[in-house]
Amino acid sequence: MAIHPLERRWFVVSILLVLVMGLFVLYTAWAAGIHPPSNVEAIDSTRLHLTPEFAEDHLGVERTKDGTVVARIVMARYMVHPQEITLPADTPIVIRAASADVLHGLHVAGTNIGTQVVPGYVSEVRTTIRFDRVAAIGTANPDGSVTVPLFCNEYCGLGHQSMWGRVRVTKP
Ligand code: CUA
Repeated sequence: MAIHPLERRWFVVSILLVLVMGLFVLYTAWAAGIHPPSNVEAIDSTRLHLTPEFAEDHLGVERTKDGTVVARIVMARYMVHPQEITLPADTPIVIRAASADVLHGLHVAGTNIGTQVVPGYVSEVRTTIRFDRVAAIGTANPDGSVTVPLFCNEYCGLGHQSMWGRVRVTKP
């Protein structure tokens, strides 16, 4: 079967494009810690306030026995609960977020924390915040910590643009 030289050239170009895109995926996974969300954990979004984990009193940051810092967040139109959390930099942290109504997005500027918060599921992100990264874009506080914004980045309704919180990152 004869293949026109121009067609052959485009074969090569399209295969190279796929390889380059594949390398980008590997590079961002390795260098920037960007991974697809993989936590499949169901929860009844209409009864979050009655669950042991996402009841109002249990939201916020907790340090577990093994030293991991766990932050529990509820996103509901058009608020982030709690509005501000404090997380240590250069420490393994776990973000656990749930939606009380519709699809939201959770993004913390200057970090690789970014996930959809799908109603009916608990979104979990395990990461370590780098202080130099948040210091480069955040607002410095008098005590040496840095505050960065936490945004909802999935359109969730008319108040979407006012749905945000703050993350105060402390030096390790
Ligand atoms: Cu919540 Cu946009």
